[in-house]
Amino acid sequence: MYGATVEPIEDIRTDEEKLAEFEARIARGEKIEPGDWMPDEYRRQLIRMISQHAHSEVVGMLPEGAFITRAPNLRRKLILLAKVQDEAGHGQYLYHAAETLGATREEMLEALLSGKAKYSSIFNYPTLSWADMGAIGWLVDGAAILNQTMLAKCSYGPYARAMVRICAEENFHRRQGQDIVITLAMGTPEQKAMMQNSINRWWWPTLMMFGPHDTDSPNSAVLIRWGIKTKTNDELRQTFVDQTAPELMALGLTIPDPELRYDETNGHWHFGEINWDEFWNVVKGNGPCNAERMATRRQAHEDGLWVREAMVAYAEKYQQ
Ligand SMILES: [Fe+2]
Ligand SMILES: [Fe+2]
Repeated sequence: MYGATVEPIEDIRTDEEKLAEFEARIARGEKIEPGDWMPDEYRRQLIRMISQHAHSEVVGMLPEGAFITRAPNLRRKLILLAKVQDEAGHGQYLYHAAETLGATREEMLEALLSGKAKYSSIFNYPTLSWADMGAIGWLVDGAAILNQTMLAKCSYGPYARAMVRICAEENFHRRQGQDIVITLAMGTPEQKAMMQNSINRWWWPTLMMFGPHDTDSPNSAVLIRWGIKTKTNDELRQTFVDQTAPELMALGLTIPDPELRYDETNGHWHFGEINWDEFWNVVKGNGPCNAERMATRRQAHEDGLWVREAMVAYAEKYQQ
């Protein structure tokens, strides 16, 4: 009969058949979209990764936000303001991407505020000088770009599309960081010393951002199998060192790693071992700023309560 509701066709495939089709689609380079069948583990891994990524963008506003009022001039202040604001936007895109998988905004925020969810360990280090804005932009955003450029090709459509937009903005963040580093490295002896001190503090935590060695990373294999990641943590870390170390040294800055040297036999920069005890200590919540960052986030959440209440009241009044 015309106008009758069309009953959805019952999916009679077995789970094995669905999985085989799902993996074949990924192998063909097709994107998996929100309504498509996907293994529970794929959904779980994506929610974990995307929400963790969203939290990192939001908490990542704090170390640099502290320097907005201390920027050396109006131009630098405007640029930093725009950068920090971009990170809030990145958090928004990513929370939306996670919502397409069935996670709610409330449960994700609750996981962050209760300390259950993780965010990038790098944001638990303090910003001590203006030079840190340069180091964060060049090193931290630079490392994030490598990871995010890979994720822009990931198998889950909404995550991949959010990444395309985010990467465009991250490139601007990296450039503004480079601009600060170059200016200070070529400045007075005091400015150069301040820049060197900053590189000394941020180099190793940035290398830690790529995560544990793949042999110690419980999630790596499944993420690569289902096209969420296409490169391993160690591959990305090596690319970062290969790109960044010679550029910093060209400015007369040194890298705080006595083992760092160019290896002509393989064309890569060899670097020393990361202090993994420090990494796990920060991940477990004992880094220099973990408690401060969480306290600031919780305060911001409480301070924003009236805004959330006003929005719900508005929606109830006018959008029924
Ligand atoms: Fe970002
Ligand atoms: Fe950024």
